[in-house]
Amino acid sequence: MIPIAKPSVGEDEAIAAAEVIRSGMLASGQEVTKFETAFSRFIGSNHSIATSSGTSALHTALLSAGINAGDEVILPAFTFIATATSISMCNASPVIADVDDTFYCINPESVLEQITPKTRAIIPVHLFGQSCDLEPLRQICEDHCLTLIEDCAQAHGARYHGNTVGTFGMAGCFSFYPTKNMTTGEGGMITAHDEAFARRARLLINHGQEIKYTHIMIGYNYRLTNIGAAIGRIQLKKLPDLNKMRTENAEFYQTHINRAGIICPTIRPGCEHVFHQYAIRILPECDLSRDDLIQALSRAGIGTAIHYPTPVHKQPVYQGRIKGDEAPVSTRLANEILSIPVWPGLSTEELSYICQTINEAE
Ligand SMILES: Cc1ncc(COP(=O)(O)O)c(C=O)c1O
Repeated sequence: MIPIAKPSVGEDEAIAAAEVIRSGMLASGQEVTKFETAFSRFIGSNHSIATSSGTSALHTALLSAGINAGDEVILPAFTFIATATSISMCNASPVIADVDDTFYCINPESVLEQITPKTRAIIPVHLFGQSCDLEPLRQICEDHCLTLIEDCAQAHGARYHGNTVGTFGMAGCFSFYPTKNMTTGEGGMITAHDEAFARRARLLINHGQEIKYTHIMIGYNYRLTNIGAAIGRIQLKKLPDLNKMRTENAEFYQTHINRAGIICPTIRPGCEHVFHQYAIRILPECDLSRDDLIQALSRAGIGTAIHYPTPVHKQPVYQGRIKGDEAPVSTRLANEILSIPVWPGLSTEELSYICQTINEAE
């Protein structure tokens, strides 16, 4: 069986985690501080604040930016649900923008159409490891006094015209869930340039305290553990190589998948994609339906996944209760997209076998 995802963790991570366990300092401490420092250096941010998950990173970043009840925050319809629920967790209203048909990221024109006097922020999602078109989004934020919070959960190390994602807005929010480009088990990170913003974020993730047992605001326990951070430090060192392997796998697919009606991902010119997912698109004119292809791959022992089968505004929790674009592109993508394995460590034989199965499936 070739699984859809496989975390690249091994003996190095096991040793690092074991050392923390032996030290007895399991909760957030020195390891977390070292991980944050290394992450800032890697991303190019002034501050990094480690969190318990990507979702808690998003929630904390929104709260730190002052997002509150009555505010509207624009996000793409085509994303994982946490981008939207983190807005709802602030009692603010998520507002849907559509994505573009080529790169599957939030469409700045659709964003512009959704801006109202209540709009306070935009959360572009660097989907599948590819940067959004950040320059127009930054311009929109500047023109309309909006906060830009990048959802980098799927894009550790991706670049937009030379700069790493997570450095363009008020904050970048990363996830370290095991299927991501790097992992801490569960975990997340907020990157930021602004000192006051970073201070608020640190308070929020730690019960609103800087001095132990003196609580100056309502906060949460959103801390990362030392065990997670020790794993994360090793993973961060490996990340450039891991991303390179994903990119090489993607290049292999690009040259070897050749079935009519199947589209491979398009890389935004001047940008570096890190292929968190390799999402092919099965167009209606393909002689095989997506369901039949999934079945054929499954029979051949190849795992696949649909990221995501339902756009945010059609999820039961939001359907009929969310403002925004009808998002026809997102709806079409939800019906056509299919992720195939792209994790580091896939052999050339496995990649060839996957391509052959896709090209020849009946
Ligand atoms: C785009 C996006 N945003 C946010 C998240 C939330 O991250 P986590 O699962 O670490 O809470 C994820 C993770 O799956 C994601 O893919």
